[in-house]
Amino acid sequence: MPALGFGTLIPDKAVTITATTAALEAGFRHFDCAERYGNEREVGNALQAGLAAGAVARKDIFVTTKLWNSNHRPDRVEPAFRASLQRLGLDYLDLYLIHTPFAFQPGDNQDPRDQDGNVLYDHDVTLLDTWKAMESLVDQGKCRAIGLSDITLNELKPVYESARIKPAVVQVESHPYLPETELFGFCKEKGIVFLAFAPLGHGMKPGLLEDPVISAIAARVGKTPAQVLLAWAVQRGTALLTTPKSAARAKENFDISPLPQDALGEINRIQTRQRLNPVVTTGVPGFIPAK
Ligand SMILES: NC(=O)c1ccc[n+]([C@@H]2O[C@H](COP(=O)([O-])OP(=O)(O)OC[C@H]3O[C@@H](n4cnc5c(N)ncnc54)[C@H](OP(=O)(O)O)[C@@H]3O)[C@@H](O)[C@H]2O)c1
Repeated sequence: MPALGFGTLIPDKAVTITATTAALEAGFRHFDCAERYGNEREVGNALQAGLAAGAVARKDIFVTTKLWNSNHRPDRVEPAFRASLQRLGLDYLDLYLIHTPFAFQPGDNQDPRDQDGNVLYDHDVTLLDTWKAMESLVDQGKCRAIGLSDITLNELKPVYESARIKPAVVQVESHPYLPETELFGFCKEKGIVFLAFAPLGHGMKPGLLEDPVISAIAARVGKTPAQVLLAWAVQRGTALLTTPKSAARAKENFDISPLPQDALGEINRIQTRQRLNPVVTTGVPGFIPAK
């Protein structure tokens, strides 16, 4: 898996196409999608255009998508997977992730709620039931690897222990304000790729892009704060997902180079702790606008 990944959580469909095309042109070869983002078709269009133009071959790109919470029942997993493949216009996936460990009421409503607005969870399916259905997709050769997202170490351990096919990737929020050291350590020990989302702190301001430690390092090494944050993520041994929307930012975010050891140490000593996306506690996405 290329360490530097392009994330497609982009609410606007036209921007999804231009941003994905720009990412491909800038050199990104790892694309992270999700059924829940509602734009797999547009990501697929942009990737298909790149493939048709001969810019890249299918084997050169790494495409991931994710099973949404309302499809956790084992009998819903393969249909959801096939629908994603069809929207993306692909005949196999490199990676399929369970988007969150929370099962919602099964059905086509991605955000099922009761009259008071409370999420309707599905207590009749376990994460392990869903995992077994994911394993059978690998058995059938439909996807090359499977993994989990928005999961805590306590939730990951039992799945890891019981799994016949071990999770290849764990995708969670991570940046210098949320290093997730313990989860990252477990992943390293078990050979699981730790894939960080929001490496730029989701571009929020004030936030990481304006952090004085990051800004000072950027000025010293002649890079932008975004490039410093992305380099830190790669150098600590994680893969990452970033979402530049313009061609200029796609080039900037792809053009990273190693930071000196002292800079890595300074970033590792940042004390601020902040989780930006509460999805890990409820299964309700934090960065996706409500429908
Ligand atoms: N598993 C999950 O539940 C989950 C949750 C969230 C995200 N994800 C995945 O992770 C991906 C990345 O997350 P993210 O969007 O939070 O990533 P991010 O790269 O940390 O944040 C993107 C934001 O940063 C800004 N930005 C990008 N490049 C910049 C640069 N060079 N300088 C200044 N600002 C810059 C963008 O602004 P502009 O819009 O102005 O370009 C955008 O607002 C998502 O697309 C999705 O694939 C997964």
